[in-house]
Amino acid sequence: LSKMKLLWTLLTLSLLAEEMLLVRGPRTRRELAPGLHERGIRDAGGSYCERSDACCPDRDDVCTVPYLDTICYCDLFCNRTVSDCCPDFWEYCLGIPPPFAVHQGCVRGGNEYPVGATHRENCNLCTCTGSGQWDCEQHACLINGEMIYAINRGNYGWRASNYSHFWGMTLDEGIRYRLGTMKPPITVMNMNELHMSMDTNEVLPRYFSAADKWPGMIHGPLDQGNCAGSWAFSTAAVASDRISIHSRGHMTPALSPQNLLSCDTRNQRGCSGGRIDGAWWFLRRRGVVTDECYPFTSQQQDSVPVGRPCMMHSRSTGRGKRQATAHCPNPYTHSNEIYQSTPAYRLSSDEKEIMKELMENGPVQAIMEVHEDFFMYKRAAAFTTVCTAANSWGKDWGEDGYFRIARGTNECEIETFVVGVWGRVSMEDMHHRK
Ligand SMILES: *[C@@H]1O[C@H](CO)[C@@H](O)[C@H](O)[C@H]1NC(C)=O
Ligand SMILES: *[C@@H]1O[C@H](CO)[C@@H](O)[C@H](O)[C@H]1NC(C)=O
Repeated sequence: LSKMKLLWTLLTLSLLAEEMLLVRGPRTRRELAPGLHERGIRDAGGSYCERSDACCPDRDDVCTVPYLDTICYCDLFCNRTVSDCCPDFWEYCLGIPPPFAVHQGCVRGGNEYPVGATHRENCNLCTCTGSGQWDCEQHACLINGEMIYAINRGNYGWRASNYSHFWGMTLDEGIRYRLGTMKPPITVMNMNELHMSMDTNEVLPRYFSAADKWPGMIHGPLDQGNCAGSWAFSTAAVASDRISIHSRGHMTPALSPQNLLSCDTRNQRGCSGGRIDGAWWFLRRRGVVTDECYPFTSQQQDSVPVGRPCMMHSRSTGRGKRQATAHCPNPYTHSNEIYQSTPAYRLSSDEKEIMKELMENGPVQAIMEVHEDFFMYKRAAAFTTVCTAANSWGKDWGEDGYFRIARGTNECEIETFVVGVWGRVSMEDMHHRK
């Protein structure tokens, strides 16, 4: 309301001024110049007349000081209706408060913004307050520039990077949308460990690559997007590789995380999180189709039952085997074969046993505690004892979607709960498919 009133007052005054000037004859450039303060005095705290110690008595058209992108005056003639006085003229030269409203905007990058203006600083919204200050939210951000700098300068064994698809997200959002595996209950965590038969002094190779040993059977890293469904993605990924390996390449399905997200709903919450033990139960008892048949469509906050309804069903055909009773959600794919696994088994947390399992039976699944710096992971330094793991944040993240982690130190508790599984592969499968 006060702003409206001010505008109206100025308009009236400027009309009056025009009349007065008509009487005086030709007008000077100065008189024609627009007033400086129609919308309030900018940079009210700035020092102009004071800095140049200039308060000129009477009219003096050269009594000027640079002011923002123009000039302002410090002579008494400036105190007219269309004022071109410097902001500190009234206070410094006349000793009175300025007659116009003081514009209380905020400055950013050399520009001024009105009260209420906003801008984002990474994950925080900043608002220009009446006191001329930017008031910013104080969330911890997923990408932290200072942390990247500190990690890359220090000797932490890995390099950090800024990911533009994480930029602007809060740490809380990262945790809510980018992870999504809930710790299994104690009964599952205490599952007996299956031990590999190993000689006590068995020497394992320094380097091993599953993709080299099983060419064409190891699937690339997946991308869960902003869906906290890592429980479904990692289970689908490990099952895909293992079914391919155990069928000796006769079947190489890339299994559907969406099938798990939408259909494995018992105690699971889709893109809001789930448990791997539930996912393995589903893979054994119900089975899933390929990703091509049932593509990934869920996004952020999509949780069952609010999220996508289940579009794939299967029925038993005897001896534990199942077949689909629905068409593929993807209308261009006809092959709706159901893939299943045997019960998952827990491995020992001994590094050598995990390594041996990996070399003999294929990729394993591990659950890992994630610390905030993990989101900024770019690549590991040249360690000798690392294990490569696939994440499900797409190929832009880390080392083509993979990350390397120190081996044998239970870094991030990755060795506490490691799981393997067998694909359900029959002789029939070995002959008929592919
Ligand atoms: C200057 O402006 C102020 C506020 O409008 C007014 O009170 C004062 O009389 C003016 N001074 C002169 C010299 O015109
Ligand atoms: C990170 O990337 C975003 C967008 O790509 C950019 O705007 C931002 O300035 C970058 N931040 C740092 C700390 O490098």
